[in-house]
Amino acid sequence: MDQKRFLITGGSQGIGAALVTLARKAGHRVVFTGRHDDTIGQVVGETGAFGLRADSSSGDDNQKTVEVCTQQMGGVDVLVNNAASWYDAAIGELDLDAMRRLFDTNVFGMVDLTNRVVPLMKAQTPEGGDIVNIASTSGTKGRKLGTAYAASKWAVRGISQCWQAELRPHSIRVISICPSEVQTRWGGRTGRNNPNKLYAVDIAATIMAALNMPSRALWPELSVFATNPWKEE
Ligand SMILES: NC(=O)c1ccc[n+]([C@@H]2O[C@H](COP(=O)([O-])OP(=O)(O)OC[C@H]3O[C@@H](n4cnc5c(N)ncnc54)[C@H](OP(=O)(O)O)[C@@H]3O)[C@@H](O)[C@H]2O)c1
Repeated sequence: MDQKRFLITGGSQGIGAALVTLARKAGHRVVFTGRHDDTIGQVVGETGAFGLRADSSSGDDNQKTVEVCTQQMGGVDVLVNNAASWYDAAIGELDLDAMRRLFDTNVFGMVDLTNRVVPLMKAQTPEGGDIVNIASTSGTKGRKLGTAYAASKWAVRGISQCWQAELRPHSIRVISICPSEVQTRWGGRTGRNNPNKLYAVDIAATIMAALNMPSRALWPELSVFATNPWKEE
């Protein structure tokens, strides 16, 4: 892949931060977002990427993010919709406001930002661009307590298919990635350190592999599982 201009939402931790690191190591320019200055500053210091505080669920922040990309890089070639939040609750006890807040980031925020970036990518034809949407295996199979989160990730996969149909004629690839469990700070859980389960860098490497496919070739959806999480050390 030639040098590209990446916009990565939620690049201050976890999978997003691992992707900022790999993209920078490969020589790409990167703007990323997050909501906390301390974690943003740490990734900026480690990678030299440009980080900004912007909440994906805010239209004003998404507009600012696109403006920063234009100022810093002159546009966006690769948009990675990674920022997401988590809410688990049983039906009968679900807080609809919490579910709406989750959808504001995981679904509406992703759509709003992409809605602002796609006109820039279309104007770049014939180069086009790449849009990577981070879904989940939770968006392929229902589970207990998963109403809000799983529904949001099914939505990400469905929306990705709609965008594939719309954007292929503009040479814009839309790729959805479905990781299984990854050992990040996801949902506030810390202290997981199982060498046989997935790490953030595994998902970042998968995203880079999909982007490194010849631009003629589109990989519409990828699931990523740990090869042998049951292995005894
Ligand atoms: N970990 C897993 O097991 C797993 C499995 C399947 C799919 N995924 C998906 O992978 C993606 C990344 O998850 P992760 O495990 O890397 O989570 P993580 O470690 O919690 O990182 C999430 C990142 O997104 C940012 N973020 C969250 N809400 C945001 C918002 N509204 N606006 C801007 N930034 C926001 C966070 O920073 P701030 O909190 O500072 O904003 C952080 O940088 C998510 O889409 C998730 O659904 C994760």
